[in-house]
Formats: sequence, structure tokens, C-alpha cells
Amino acid sequence: MIQTVSDLNDLKFYGKKVLTRVDFNVTLNDNIIGEDYRIRMTIPTIEYLTKRGAKVILMSHLGRPRPTTTNSPITDRKYSLAPVAKRLSEILLVNKVTFATNCIGQIAQKKIDDMNMGDVLLLENLRFHREEETNNSEFCKQLASLADVYVNDAFSTSHRKHASTYGTPKLFDTRVGGLTLKKEVEYLSMIRDNPTKPFTLIVGGVKIKDKIGALENLLPKADSILVGGATAYTFLKANGTNIGNSPVDDEHLNWVTNALLKYRNKIILPTDHIVSRAQDSPSVSLVKGDIPDGMIGFDIGIETSQQYSNQIAAKRSGTTFWNGPMGLFELKHFANGTNDIAKTMALAYWRGSKTLIGGGDTLEAMKRAGVSEGEVSHVSIGGGATLRFLAGDEMPGIDILQE
Ligand code: 3PG
Ligand code: MG
Repeated sequence: MIQTVSDLNDLKFYGKKVLTRVDFNVTLNDNIIGEDYRIRMTIPTIEYLTKRGAKVILMSHLGRPRPTTTNSPITDRKYSLAPVAKRLSEILLVNKVTFATNCIGQIAQKKIDDMNMGDVLLLENLRFHREEETNNSEFCKQLASLADVYVNDAFSTSHRKHASTYGTPKLFDTRVGGLTLKKEVEYLSMIRDNPTKPFTLIVGGVKIKDKIGALENLLPKADSILVGGATAYTFLKANGTNIGNSPVDDEHLNWVTNALLKYRNKIILPTDHIVSRAQDSPSVSLVKGDIPDGMIGFDIGIETSQQYSNQIAAKRSGTTFWNGPMGLFELKHFANGTNDIAKTMALAYWRGSKTLIGGGDTLEAMKRAGVSEGEVSHVSIGGGATLRFLAGDEMPGIDILQE
């Protein structure tokens, strides 16, 4: 088990500088923050620390900024964390929140020297230094020199062996997990190792490749798997159904065929579809069974949606894990299946089953359906990290806390 902030004596934090890795990799459009769940989910840890008199120094990456030429500095301001610092200060009303325009060096140090107990400082995007991603030891030393204690509350970036997640914590005697990281590890371990039965898996979205590792682990444990989204067409093709011009992941058709052979009694595929000639075509229709040539499936059909909903809502116990939307939910006329699943997930939660959703687009889909974060047992915001954890892959950022 990982040690977390709450396992340590309060004196470890009193007046201490606590370097905390968070994942503030949010979507930014013209400096406007989209979904801010990743910011809000770090509040329990930040407040835990500030209430104990810590000076909380937050570090994060944002996006994947790259240099324009091999040796030029990385300075693309559209990746600046400044708007995030602003949002954080609006959320943390009682704490003073400041921002340092560089994550290391004199600029960072000066801001830290000015901090009082209970203050929060956000450092500028770690990836403005290419040494972050290469886990450069000199860069790790510079980060480590800023503080006394290290905390990781960034589950969603813990699959990366970067300076802030791996090399830097190594240099601290005291390195622990944050409260949200702990909750994430507990829920995902439950699903991976010992899901409360009956265990229903809802798989949608586009990319099969990223999910294979997780599915290898989860398929044997699941009682039923409801497949939707673009993923469904590859399964249907493997099953011999005509899928018209719907997208197929031919590269993984073999894997899907084998999975179907092995788990045919558990895997449930759509029986009808919302189809159209193109996503922007005004004419949309509902077909049962085979999808005619020239047509593309964009959502699960009404019968499928009802069948899936019945399965999910019938449960008053057990676990349901949903990863990936059922269709192109960004467009209203292809959002019905996804909306139904989201609402039924909420119903299952209220009736007493454990419900988990994974992935940023699934959270967005759920919210668009009018279901709030409070109507699901756990929101896992890691995309790649969640799937890798479920696959049983190593998680350097978590493993280093246990060493
Ligand atoms: C994510 O959004 O999945 C994490 O923040 C990690 O980002 P990365 O894939 O750019 O490392
Ligand atoms: Mg990612």
C-alpha cells in the first residue's frame, strides 16, 4: 500500500515546503479552461496540507509543447499554466495562490521565499524544460532543491517516467501520495484485482489498441461486456455482421476475433444502429442488424440502448465500469445512446451499485447528459494511466513512492 499525506505526523508539514505533483493538463482554448475536474480533484490534498501549515508548491505539465528547432527553448505561451493559477485562486478562496513563471531557478526560488504557511504556489509548465521528459538528473536536483517533502497527487501522469514523477521524488526522504491518488489506486485496484460482482464492463470509444491490455485483465473477471462506439464495429465485423462503411480497426481484428471466441457468452454487441452517409449529412436513419453499404454507424440504436440500460439499471449491487462513449455524442443526433448510458449509470449508482467511469471524454459525455460527478462512485480522469494501471503495467510515479 502507498503511504499518503494522512499517514504522516502533522509536524511533517508544519512550516514545511511541500512539492506536490498534480496533473493540471486541462483543455485550454484561448486561455479559457474547459473541464476543470482535474483542478478541483486536487483540492482535498491541497487543503489537507495548507491546514497543517505547509507551503504548498504545485508543479504540473500542460499539453506537449515542443521546441521549434532542436535546440531552441520551449516557450509556446499557449501552454502556460497561468490561466490555471487564476482558476485555482478562484476555487481556493481562503488561501493565497501565486504563480511562478519558471518552475526552477531564481524566479521559482524568489516566489517560494515570499510564501507564508498555508500559501499555495503554482510553478509554470514543467515541459517548458525538455529535461522534464528526459528525466534529466540535474533538472531533478533543481526541482528537489525547492522543497522539504514530496507529494504525488497526479495519478493520471504516473505512468510517465519523467523528472517530476520519477527522478525528483527519488531525491526526497519523505515522498508520499496525495489523497486523490490514493482513492484512484484503491478503486482501480478493486476493479482490476477483485471487482465486486456482478461486474459489468461498458466499452466504447474509438481506439481498441489502448484498451487491449486492460481488456485482457478485465474480460475474464467481467460478467458482461456491453460494446458500443466505434469499437463495436470491429467486434461486429469479426462477428460476421455487415457494417457498411463504419470505421474498423483492422489491425486489431484478430485480437477481437479471439476475444469473441473466448468470451462469446459475455460480450454483448449492438443489434441496431443510428446510421448516416456522413457525419454532416442531414439524413439519419435507424437500422436493425446489418448496416447497408455506403452507410456509417454513428451511435447505438434504440433497441440496443434499451437493452444496455436494462442490464445496467437492473443492478442494485456489484460494479459497473464505463470507458468510452457509445457514439459520436458531440453531435446531438448521435448522442442518444451515450446519454442513455450516462443516465442509467446514475440510476445504478443511486440503487447501490459501485459505478466508475474512466477517461476524459467519458466524463464530458456524462456531463453533457446532465449527470453530475456526484452521481457516480468514482471518476477516473487518467486516460492512458488508467488503462495501463488496469493492464497491470508498471506505474513509475507510484512505484517510486513505495521504494
Ligand atoms: C494525460 O492527459 O493523459 C496526462 O496528463 C499525461 O499527459 P501526456 O500523455 O502528454 O504525458
Ligand atoms: Mg494523454
